[in-house]
Amino acid sequence: MPAIVIVGAQWGDEGKGKATDLLSSRLDYVVKFNGGNNAGHTVVIGDEKYALHLLPSGILTPGVVPVISNGVVVDIEVLFEELDALTARGLDVSKLVVSANAHVIASYHRTIDKVTERFLGKRQIGTTGRGIGPAYADKINRVGIRIQDLFDENILRQKVEGALHQKNHLLVKVYNRRAILVNEVVAELLSYAERLRPMVADTSLLLHQALEAGKTVLFEGGQATMLDVDHGTYPFVTSSSATAGGAATGSGIGPARLERIIGIVKAYTTRVGSGPFPTELFDENGDFLRETGHEFGTTTGRPRRVGWYDAPIARYAARINGITDFVLTKLDILTGLPTIPVCVAYNVDGVRFDELPVNQSDFHHATPIYEEFPGWTEDITGARTFDDLPKNAQDYVIALEGMSGSRISAIGVGPARDAIVVRHDLIGG
Ligand code: GDP
Ligand code: IMO
Ligand code: MG
Repeated sequence: MPAIVIVGAQWGDEGKGKATDLLSSRLDYVVKFNGGNNAGHTVVIGDEKYALHLLPSGILTPGVVPVISNGVVVDIEVLFEELDALTARGLDVSKLVVSANAHVIASYHRTIDKVTERFLGKRQIGTTGRGIGPAYADKINRVGIRIQDLFDENILRQKVEGALHQKNHLLVKVYNRRAILVNEVVAELLSYAERLRPMVADTSLLLHQALEAGKTVLFEGGQATMLDVDHGTYPFVTSSSATAGGAATGSGIGPARLERIIGIVKAYTTRVGSGPFPTELFDENGDFLRETGHEFGTTTGRPRRVGWYDAPIARYAARINGITDFVLTKLDILTGLPTIPVCVAYNVDGVRFDELPVNQSDFHHATPIYEEFPGWTEDITGARTFDDLPKNAQDYVIALEGMSGSRISAIGVGPARDAIVVRHDLIGG
């Protein structure tokens, strides 16, 4: 089973980092193919807790080659900080490979991210402020800086001049900020070049050769289906392709290589930032899920918005990504609830929608149609087989499986590395 993809099936923070870590002892390469340091993956290994933003979660496993591929936007200062922090904790990070074609997040991208959000006022996206959107905008607008540009000062200077020409007009005349100096940006980026150089490679070729040699490669998506720039709740999305197709374009391997698509889905739903969220809770059930599930952002520390499981969203994710297997996470957080509502369809101005309405305004107005399932009170964190789960928890999982468009192959029952019930092998089975 050479190429496997992990994607988020909701609005992020489903537990993708933990799922990658679960498989990592059987992997040769772990590739981050989209996004940047807007991601936040918390991985718990024994007594140690790691919070990764830019690096792929596979960096925590000795023997795995972590790869940052062309689809990623790289804040190099953050990259070095994360590498240093892991080194200080005794990890070997020397195998990291970074694509020469990945784009760079420069200081002006962070500045523009923040000023545009401020000027959007009520319409703001609630971005992480890490410069992600402006860096991807420059890439699409063909004024981006790529990692390879750092190794040629002349080219770099020309590109920075090109990138800043329009932006300085905008910053000074519209946003009333001071202009950004080409020299300062060039000097900063050049200062990274020597440390970065040994990590940089043609990662498309590297991954092609690995797959030809029968190596197992996992593509770890950041963000999630509903935050994907094409398929998410636009404009309340991130600016990259967070769905399975992004693994091919974001890494330069052929799409037919991707044989296994694993969707990570929480047993309830969360979202950070603005945008529609039909099952969102504002009552004590919401407080219960947020507190019990520790639903506070890994990247920005913001309280996550929380709601019940939304089956049409899971079905949509199964369709858009071609999900072959779901990993259902955080089932343990539902323990103790007398009944558990699941959204099975939407009501939009009196009309029933069994699938996501294509019209974004309809989705904003959608109210959930719920089916209720009986809860359980037994502690399930020690469950390791499906039979270990209480009958009501089993029935809940089976009901979700029936509505979600693909089989549920593993179930998370706690944050710890081994707190998982595996029903079907995610790599071989
Ligand atoms: P990611 O962005 O998808 O990697 O997810 P995050 O790391 O942002 O958020 C998921 C959180 O849930 C992390 O703190 C994980 O340690 C935790 N987690 C993952 N799976 C489970 C689970 O099955 N049960 C519990 N209680 N916590 C889990
Ligand atoms: P992981 O990988 C949850 C959200 C932000 C904001 C929107 C756009 O940990 O699941 P951006 O800074 O990307 O331009 O912000 O996307 N967002 C996430 N929400 N998990 C993430 O990553 C996210 N990355 C971005 O909150 O609403
Ligand atoms: Mg996260």
